[in-house]
Amino acid sequence: MTIHFNNQTNEFHLQTKNVSYIFKRLENNQLGQIYYGKRLRHRDSFERLYHVSHRPNTNYEYEGNLEFSLDLIKQEYPTFGNTDFREPAFQLLQENGSRTTNFEYNTHCVYKGKKQLEGLPATYVEREEEATTLEISLLDAVINVEMKLSYSVFESLDAITRSVTFINHGNEPVNLTRVMSASVDLPDSNFEMLQLSGAWARERHMKERQLVPGIQSISSARGTSSSQHNPFLALKRPETTETHGDVYGFSLVYSGNFLAQVEVDHYDVSRVMIGINPFDFNWLLTKGESFQAPEVVMVYSNNGLNGMSQVYHKLYRTRLARGRWRDQERPILINNWEATYFQFDEQKIVEIAEQSKELGVELFVLDDGWFGKRDDDTTSLGDWFVNKRKLPNGIEGLAKKITALGLDFGLWFEPEMVSKVSELYEAHPDWVIHRPERKLSHGRNQYVLDFSRQEVVDYIYELMAKTLREAPISYVKWDMNRFMTEIGSLSLPANRQKEVAHRYILGVYQLYERLIADFPHILFESCASGGCRFDPGMLYYAPQGWTSDDTDAVERLKIQYGTSMVYPISAMGAHVSAVPNHQVGRITSLETRANVAYFGTFGYELDITKMTEKEKAQVRKQTAFYKENRGLIQTGEFYRLTSPFVVNSNETSWMVVSEDKTEALVGYYQVLADPNPGFKRLILAGLDPNYEYRINEIETTFYGDELMNAGIQLEKYLSDSFVGDFSSTIFKVTKV
Ligand code: DGJ
Repeated sequence: MTIHFNNQTNEFHLQTKNVSYIFKRLENNQLGQIYYGKRLRHRDSFERLYHVSHRPNTNYEYEGNLEFSLDLIKQEYPTFGNTDFREPAFQLLQENGSRTTNFEYNTHCVYKGKKQLEGLPATYVEREEEATTLEISLLDAVINVEMKLSYSVFESLDAITRSVTFINHGNEPVNLTRVMSASVDLPDSNFEMLQLSGAWARERHMKERQLVPGIQSISSARGTSSSQHNPFLALKRPETTETHGDVYGFSLVYSGNFLAQVEVDHYDVSRVMIGINPFDFNWLLTKGESFQAPEVVMVYSNNGLNGMSQVYHKLYRTRLARGRWRDQERPILINNWEATYFQFDEQKIVEIAEQSKELGVELFVLDDGWFGKRDDDTTSLGDWFVNKRKLPNGIEGLAKKITALGLDFGLWFEPEMVSKVSELYEAHPDWVIHRPERKLSHGRNQYVLDFSRQEVVDYIYELMAKTLREAPISYVKWDMNRFMTEIGSLSLPANRQKEVAHRYILGVYQLYERLIADFPHILFESCASGGCRFDPGMLYYAPQGWTSDDTDAVERLKIQYGTSMVYPISAMGAHVSAVPNHQVGRITSLETRANVAYFGTFGYELDITKMTEKEKAQVRKQTAFYKENRGLIQTGEFYRLTSPFVVNSNETSWMVVSEDKTEALVGYYQVLADPNPGFKRLILAGLDPNYEYRINEIETTFYGDELMNAGIQLEKYLSDSFVGDFSSTIFKVTKV
C-alpha cells in the first residue's frame, strides 16, 4: 500500500520507498499537514505529530476555541480570507467582489495508476502498478466551486506529484487570480533555498541563500520559464552536502511564467509553493468550466543533493520524456550554426556533412537560414518554405543527399515566431501577441505568434508537417528566441486578456503534441536562445534540449553541473565548438571541449572542413569513444563530485555509473594550472563497495569501498595531456 487512509482519524499517509507524506482532515474540513520527510512506518494514527496550541495575538475560527487558527496550522492547500495571513495557495475573486473562500472536504478516491493532465505535460505510468493516485474533492458551498487536489505516489521511483483542478459548478463566474500547483508548510526554517538562476549564456547556476522571515522567491514573467530562473527550488539543511543530509525539491512541469517561493512566518514555519506566476494572471471560470494547474514533482532525499537529483533524473528520463527516442541511444550530431551562421549554400552543407560522416558523426542538423529570404535575423520567420537561392534542390533534395551519405538529417524551426518582413506577417498582422493601441517591441527583430489562437497553431502545424512529410527528416531543433511583450490577443475579450500567456503555452504544447504524434520517428530537441526554456514541460515533448548557446568548456562545467540538479544528462545537448569560443573568446583544447561535452547528448558545432588532419584524427577517436560509452552516459546514474560553484573553485568532477555498477566514467576538470599542487585525492561515488574495479587499463585494482572512501591519488591517473590551464581527464572504471 502506498496510500493509506484512516477513516477514524481522517488521516492520509502517502508512502514511497523512502518518503512519508502525511496530512489530515481538520475539524473545519480543510486539510492540515502532519509530516513530510523520511519514510515512517505506517500506524493507525499520527495525531501525536500534529501540533497546534494557543498563541497570543491570533485570530481564531470558532468562538470559545483559543487554539484553532489557520495561522497556527500547517496546511495542505492554504486558503485566503479568514485566520491565515500568509500568502495562500489560491485566490478566487467572486462576482460580489469577495475573495474569501472556504473549501471543505467532500469526497476522495484512491486508484492505481495516474491520469494524464489535459493539455499539459506531466509524468506518466506505463503500468498501473507504478503509481497510486489520491484525488480529494473539496467544495466551497457558497459559490459551488469544486477544488480537486490530486497526488500520485511513484513508490519505487520515490517521488510524489501534485496538481489541482478548479471546477465551477455554480451559476456565477469566478476569477482564479492565483493558483499554485502545490504548497507545503515545513515546521521549521533552518534551510537554505537552492535555486538555478542566471542569464543567457550562463544558465542554471546554483545559488543558495539562508531562509529569513518573510517571502523569498524566484519567478518568471517573460512568457517562458526563462534562463533567469528555472522552475525549481530546493530547501536543504545548511549541513547537507552532495551525498548526505535532507533536501526537499520542488520542480514544476511547466514552460511559462512561474513563481516558486518560500514564506517564513513568525513561528518559523516555511511555506513553500510553486505554480503559475500569479503576477499578471487571471483565469475566468464561467459555469461548467474548469482549470487544470500544471504538475509539480516533489522529491525528498536524505542522501543529499545527489540523492534528490537521481530521483529526478530517473523519473524525468523514463516517465516524463516519451516516445521512441526516450530509450534509444541518441545520435552524435553536427550542427552548422557556428560553422556558417546564415551564410551557406547546398555545396557548403554537403561538404560539411561528407567530412563529418567520415569522422563518425551520425546526424547532420541544418540550423537557421534555410527558409524564406533569411540571410540574417531581420526576415522570414513564419515562412517555412525553402530558400531556393541557397538550396536549389529544396529541403527534400538536400536531405536526400545527406541521407545518401549515410547520415540522418535534421532541421531547425522557430515555430512560435514571425518576422515583420515575411509573407505570413503581411497576410496576418493580427496574428501576433500585441496590444493594437500600443507600439510593439521586438526581440531579435521578431514577434511572438499568438498561439492562444487555434487557427495560428493550425497554420504553423500545416507548414511544418508539409516539410516533415516531404523530406527524410529525423530530427527537429525547435528554437524560440524572444520574450513576450505588450501581451494581448485580439481573439479574447477584455476580461480574458490575463489568460494569454498561459493559453499561449497550451498552444505550444498542442503543436508539439500533434507533431510528435504524427511524426513519431523524429527526435525533437528543444531550444530557446540556448537554455532559456529548459524545463520539465519541454522534456515531455523533446527528450533533449539545447542546454545553452554557451559552448565554452569552462562555462559549460557550471551550466551542466547546475542543470544536472534536476535534469538527466541524456536531456542536455552538449557540443564541441570552435576556438576561440564564439561566446567568451576562450581557447581550450579539443580534448577538454569533448571531455565536457561527453556528459550530455554529444555533438559538434563548428566547421569541420577547417580542421587540421591531426584534429580530425582526434574527432574520429572522440566519436568512437562516445559511441562506445553512450549507453552508460545516457542511462547511467550521474553523480556530482566536486562543484565549480564553491568559492574560488578551480576544479570540477562528476561521474556516471551504470545501473548494475559494473562500469563508470569519471570526468575531472581543472580550470587554471595549479603550480606545485598538493597531494590530491578524488573520492568516487555510486559504486558497489564490494566490487573490485580497475581504472583505465592500469593493473592495480581497488574495491568500491576504497574508491568511495579513500579515493584515488589523482596524479597517477591524469592523462599525459593534463598540463596547463583548462586541462581535463576522463577515467573509465570497470569491474574486473
Ligand atoms: C538560437 C539558438 O540557441 C542557436 O543554437 C541557433 O539555433 C540560433 N538561435 C539560430 O538563430
